[in-house]
Amino acid sequence: MKKKVIKAVFPAAGLGTRFLPATKASPKEMLPIVDKPMIQYAVEEAQRCGIKEFIMVTGKSKRAIEDHFDSAWELEENLKKKGKEEMLKEVQRLSQLQFAYIRQGNPLGLGHAILRAEPFVKDEPFAVLLSDDIIDPDDDLLARMIKIYERYNTTVLALQRVPRNEIHRYGIIAGREVGNNIYKITDMVEKPSPSSAPSDIAIIGRYILTPDIFSYIQKTPPGKGGEIQLTDALKALLKRRAVYGYLFDGRRYDAGDKLGYLKATVELALKSPAVSKGFREYLKSVASRIQKES
Ligand code: UTP
Repeated sequence: MKKKVIKAVFPAAGLGTRFLPATKASPKEMLPIVDKPMIQYAVEEAQRCGIKEFIMVTGKSKRAIEDHFDSAWELEENLKKKGKEEMLKEVQRLSQLQFAYIRQGNPLGLGHAILRAEPFVKDEPFAVLLSDDIIDPDDDLLARMIKIYERYNTTVLALQRVPRNEIHRYGIIAGREVGNNIYKITDMVEKPSPSSAPSDIAIIGRYILTPDIFSYIQKTPPGKGGEIQLTDALKALLKRRAVYGYLFDGRRYDAGDKLGYLKATVELALKSPAVSKGFREYLKSVASRIQKES
């Protein structure tokens, strides 16, 4: 019988060098966008898609992630006393989910981080969410990927077209479209130069993987940047088994990068009931000031 995707892995052990100095002692994944840390957006996205077990791969200086999803007795008592019921519910909601934590040790790459989750994933299919890739909460990328997984019973990668000058930052695929925005992948290359890239279609931070990926990662030597790359393991898997991709045309923000983080903040603030009205007014005044200046 086909197994349902109910587990998700959140690799969060990277060094976050693009966001220094903020990430020197604090996890990138805990940087807030409006009023929630980045990783909470990913956890809530997974929860909306039926994920029941949340497996976090963390590392040095990442304790705040565990604390964030834990119960906070003193804070809860304080909110109770002050009658702040809404806030109390919000704070308690997260700690009721089922989390498991594992440390990566050395951040030897995304593939290596995912391999660390094997004892928790066991022999089940699982989702991987990179929390610095923020998907607009109104777009249902992961839910669509799970549907494609259920149809083909194999690995599904999230894809998005990227501008030529960003190709060198991603794993890039070759493939043919076999359905509406569904691609059968025939090759992939980690961080190619634009001239050697097989397309402009990049792998972005959502994956549905099958447990056989672990044995491929184990055999993967360090690749680009000396890291054990998930793309290299997927490329080896591709020789034995079909791999599909879903070309996402919704809104994604690379919030692991300073400019992407600011864009995510602006877009999500415009949607936030708490601040959208005042923020919209503020943005208009900024826009008109910039126009006058230029
Ligand atoms: P990134 O490529 O964004 O790397 O990793 P990074 O180290 O976090 O950030 P930069 O590039 O140095 O600024 C994508 C995801 O994979 C995780 C990261 O935490 C992030 O969620 N990751 C990466 C690990 O968990 N372990 C690693 O060894 C590398």
